[in-house]
Amino acid sequence: MNLRDRIRVLKEDRDAVILAHNYQRPEIQDIADIVGDSLELAVSAKETGASVIVVCGVDFMAETAKILNPGKTVLLPVKDATCPMAHQLTPDIIREARTAHPDASVVLYVNSTAESKALADIVCTSANAVKVVRSLGTREVLFGPDCNLAAYVQNLVPEKEIIPIPPEGHCYVHDAFTLDDIAEARKRGGTIICHPECRPEIQNGADVVASTGGMVRAAPDAEAWNVLTEREMGYRLKSLFPGKTFYTKEEAICEDMKKITLHALCRSLETMQYEITLDPEIATRARTAIDRMIAIGR
Ligand code: 13P
Ligand code: SF4
Repeated sequence: MNLRDRIRVLKEDRDAVILAHNYQRPEIQDIADIVGDSLELAVSAKETGASVIVVCGVDFMAETAKILNPGKTVLLPVKDATCPMAHQLTPDIIREARTAHPDASVVLYVNSTAESKALADIVCTSANAVKVVRSLGTREVLFGPDCNLAAYVQNLVPEKEIIPIPPEGHCYVHDAFTLDDIAEARKRGGTIICHPECRPEIQNGADVVASTGGMVRAAPDAEAWNVLTEREMGYRLKSLFPGKTFYTKEEAICEDMKKITLHALCRSLETMQYEITLDPEIATRARTAIDRMIAIGR
């Protein structure tokens, strides 16, 4: 039996659902039951009837699925597939910021650890960060860990004061886009769309700023797109819109997303590893912050 068939058989045997982020390898996207952005994966994890949830993505995505499904088995096929940006924010940074800004709300990007989420008032993803911040009663908002997403929100919600924690948290993949990439795209032609994790000057130079799910929804609006985010988003868009053109940057690769291979996925279903376990108190507190976000929606 080939690897793909073996995964399909094991998936049935285990009563598992496979969730994959838009940055996963093409072969993982193809075999997954659901492919989506962070918000779509969180909502699907909450709604699934399957007993086992396999998250092909990075650890904060699997942790979020576990927090929303404490009674289910949640597997991350590669133990150390993580988001380096999530670890730039620690619980101590949040506590210190709360002490310095006692009237502020704390909004944490879903790209954060469960320990940090447990200290947040509400979570957001790049798909709903603006809506989440607008929903808050306070003027001051502590926002982490991505300072570029914080700048994006500040631009659209000028009535609030967004304080990034830490001051310079960022994603190394998105922070690497430069004005040369914008200039190259302009020369090539096509609409420029970038992720809000890109620097403010890239956001200002793009035609559209959107989460990866937002990129899927925007795609019908143009024939050719320059997609300034992780490279595999191009595969996702091309499979959904085969008649359109999507230019991506070869070097824009999230190494941790790429750790999930078909072999790793198959082994995960065989051995039921690596199971996500969380301190129940942390999970309960983090769940409140995530549920608040889900109630707000996109
Ligand atoms: P999305 O929520 O837009 O899918 O982004 C997740 C992510 O990790 C971006 O780097
Ligand atoms: Fe984290 Fe960036 Fe990878 Fe997204 S692309 S998971 S933000 S390192």
